[in-house]
Amino acid sequence: MADYDFDVLVIGAGPGGYVAAIRAAQLGLKTACAESRETLGGTCLNVGCIPSKALLHASELYEEAAGGALAKLGVKIEGMSLDLDAMHAQRLDAVKGLTGGIEYLFKKNKVEWLKGRASFESADTVTVGGRTVRAKNIVIATGSSVTPLPGVTVDHDRIVDSTSALELPKVPGHMVVIGGGVIGLELGSVWRRLGAKVTVVEYLDQILPGMDGEVRKEANKIFKKQGFEFKLSTKVTGAETSGEGVTLTLEPAAGGAAETMQADVVLVAIGRRPNTEGLALDKAGLQVNKRGQVDIDHDFRTSVPGIWAIGDVAPGPMLAHKAEDEGIAVAENIAGQTGIVNHAVIPSVVYTNPEIAGVGLTEEAAKEQGEIKVGKFPMLGNSRAKTNHEPNGFVKVIADAKSDRVLGVWIIAVPAGTMIAQAAQAMEFGATSEDIAYTCHAHPTHSEALKEAAMAVTGKPIHV
Ligand code: FAD
Ligand code: NAI
Repeated sequence: MADYDFDVLVIGAGPGGYVAAIRAAQLGLKTACAESRETLGGTCLNVGCIPSKALLHASELYEEAAGGALAKLGVKIEGMSLDLDAMHAQRLDAVKGLTGGIEYLFKKNKVEWLKGRASFESADTVTVGGRTVRAKNIVIATGSSVTPLPGVTVDHDRIVDSTSALELPKVPGHMVVIGGGVIGLELGSVWRRLGAKVTVVEYLDQILPGMDGEVRKEANKIFKKQGFEFKLSTKVTGAETSGEGVTLTLEPAAGGAAETMQADVVLVAIGRRPNTEGLALDKAGLQVNKRGQVDIDHDFRTSVPGIWAIGDVAPGPMLAHKAEDEGIAVAENIAGQTGIVNHAVIPSVVYTNPEIAGVGLTEEAAKEQGEIKVGKFPMLGNSRAKTNHEPNGFVKVIADAKSDRVLGVWIIAVPAGTMIAQAAQAMEFGATSEDIAYTCHAHPTHSEALKEAAMAVTGKPIHV
């Protein structure tokens, strides 16, 4: 290793970075991981996937109890009430347990945690926490952070971002969410279930960009029934905070007369942007692309030999499991193995109730590529969903008209996030819709709806 301190230095300990570091160490490489947060796990474990799911789970149970759904099942709870402090405490507990778990895994695998912000000195030298280290390979896994909205300054009190929206000390009367994407709908759901009126202001003419068109429309209908209000094709041009709350100025996206809207709390959720500030990429000979990302090739190599990039800071969907898979693959490539991520088969899930999940092509994108067949099956026809009083949603399987190979699967169903794994695996194996239709699925399970949607591709479902 000559005068290198490490074979691999990973910058950032999110799902991309910590997984890359652990896999590199497992492969016998001397590995360090630089992380400036007090705890490991990155956005996902500290302020993203995990704390949001802790609140989604708890608020869902609260709504079932408070809204009478449990009483209808014969579960009567007298004098129930919301203990928001306890709900926050269990969220923090979940985060503590999992971030601590990564620290344990680092020790177990002998990954050295370099505490502090890393900054390049040259292509193989980085300073972190006052220490200068040389590494044969450097993996940039610095993740992303909230995109600011000009004119709507986050103060973490009245105007919050996804992090401060997880920590509200009381349920707002009226929450306005700017951005009808994943964060807006998940965190909007949390506070709506706990009693807030929630209005979503979305720039585009429909929520959930990037998802299948039919899924977007159906999701909109379901959320409206739950009490969400939507102002689509609308942009926010300013916000003024006073003791009373926030006055937002809105305009039609296409231009037109302005109006105002009063909110107690405003959540800005218009996307995330890659973290490269302060890294001094130029000293390593690197530049960012137009979207602020570090460009990579198929093997996660940047344009500078020995420097690699993965996760949210690199192109592709900003998802934890995408970052994790890239983390494993990049470590394997560094070790001389063949690490591959199939970017055509990365599932995405919105953890609302019902959940919304998809993998592969939307119907619109598939049609552009050639002739397709589509099979759909409503959750109303699924015995388990019906028994559980979960009538909303459907499964849609999109297949190539000639080869029958599955091109995409879209699901709105309570456990859609779990169901989509089967679809992803089938697609990874190059399955046809017939392969799914003739696979025996346990009864009664929600997953039978996927089997029946696959049967519907060739017109043969049983339960509709
Ligand atoms: P990150 O997790 O962002 O980690 C990067 C780390 O690098 C950070 O800890 C940062 O402190 C550190 N860092 C940055 N610069 C430096 C530096 N110069 N020196 C040292 N350290 C540095 N995705 C899902 O798949 N499922 C979900 O349910 C989900 N829910 C989410 C909910 C919310 C509210 C948010 C905000 C995001 C959610 N995401 C979810 C997205 C997910 O969190 C990200 O895709 C994922 O964390 C990206 O992983 P990463 O390793 O690329 O970066
Ligand atoms: P997003 O990209 O999902 O949605 C942002 C929305 O804001 C879009 O619909 C966009 O059209 C809209 N928008 C943009 N500018 C606007 C403006 N000025 N006014 C009104 N609307 C505007 O981004 P979001 O929700 O912030 O999430 C960021 C990322 O975090 C996502 O891309 C996702 O990858 C990740 N994430 C994933 C989760 C999951 O997997 N369940 C959960 C939460 C976040």
